[in-house]
Amino acid sequence: MSLIKEPVVIHKGLDNVYVKESRICFIDGEASKLFYRGYSIEELAAHSTFEETAFLLIYGWLPTAVQLKQFISKLSANRPLEDGLLRLIREFPDRSDPMDVLRTAVSALGLYDSQPMTDENQLRIDKAIRILAKIPSIITAFDRVRNHKDPVTPKEQMTHAAEFLYMLTGNEPDPYDAHVMDVALILHAEHEMNASTFACTVTASTLADMYSVTTSGIGTLRGPLHGGANEAALRTVLDVGDPSKAESYVVDALAHKKRIMGFGHRVYKTWDPRYLILKGFAGELAARKGQSALFDTAVAIETSARKHLEGTPIFPNVDSYSGIVFHMLGIQTDLFTPIFAMSRTAGWTAHTIEYLENNRLIRPKALYMGKVGLPYIPIESRTGKVEE
Ligand code: CMC
Repeated sequence: MSLIKEPVVIHKGLDNVYVKESRICFIDGEASKLFYRGYSIEELAAHSTFEETAFLLIYGWLPTAVQLKQFISKLSANRPLEDGLLRLIREFPDRSDPMDVLRTAVSALGLYDSQPMTDENQLRIDKAIRILAKIPSIITAFDRVRNHKDPVTPKEQMTHAAEFLYMLTGNEPDPYDAHVMDVALILHAEHEMNASTFACTVTASTLADMYSVTTSGIGTLRGPLHGGANEAALRTVLDVGDPSKAESYVVDALAHKKRIMGFGHRVYKTWDPRYLILKGFAGELAARKGQSALFDTAVAIETSARKHLEGTPIFPNVDSYSGIVFHMLGIQTDLFTPIFAMSRTAGWTAHTIEYLENNRLIRPKALYMGKVGLPYIPIESRTGKVEE
């Protein structure tokens, strides 16, 4: 029984709780619509680049040619990793999960900033750009090192997406692959007050530094109900292995109350617009790379799941095809969530900068259901469990 006398409503999962006003992102989960700063995700995917989209999210407007050039130059200048950070990455065990590596390395990045704390907006933006630029370098450096290869020095004059693929393999990527990667980064860059963005906002509200904020986001994104779902969705497709086995997999999974990864969303109660875009690219990539069986299996799982989930608001989300796209780009499965983080850093930092313009410490409540006033028990008399 609670000690609080007045009626209390618990918003478990914080469903439909608004924590701030924002001008960054609007999702209409009933109408399959997503806008960054007022621009539809379809328009951005068709015409923008990740760099331009990140500028849009962080500053609030589409950059002029000069502003975009300056932004790209700042990203390029910030890409190389400090020697100490590279040494640290080389020390991590090869078996480390890349999300743990990223979380640790972004945290360590703060140690190489002589002034990580700031209350100046422009400096916060500079730190956001620094983190955004370094994350691909961190992910690729670790992947190279664990495969007993040297990290690749970033080249200038490449897009953020192409640079990532280049630093991963040491080869300049195929332009179509780089374009698909670019679109995937745009699609993942922002998504309103999701779990990791909320975690960043909570950390920001304490006036912690941008490195702590991003580390909170990475830690929160790691779980399979959020960023980790793309890896799980691909594993499902690989395990099912063939379109003919999709129906029995789905029937069995739903009968055992298992979740179909890459399906369902707290906000979308219809098609996730990002899924619709990525599925198109997944189909094209499959044809180009001779991986039609993989794509067909994913489509068969989707078709079967929708048939059995008909009448429910559980539709495929962005993760149902993002993992397949990354896989066909030759990227190892455990790098998918770090790539999500690499892109979402734009949204995390944009929300942090916005929230701090009108900060209020986030401090909700928990309804206490325990006892009070228990007599202190001497150690020899304790039962070793909760006292009745
Ligand atoms: N497969 C089968 N059943 C599902 C699924 C699914 N993927 N998702 C939800 N349900 C069922 C769930 O079992 C529950 O049924 P019942 O009421 O009979 O117990 C009902 O739908 C409501 O589930 P919920 O967990 O209360 O709904 P939610 O709004 O909290 O779910 C979710 C959101 C993303 C956690 C959930 O859909 C899920 O676990 N999906 C699989 C993981 C996934 O794909 N995550 C990526 C989300 S998109 C990327 C991102 O934005 O992070």
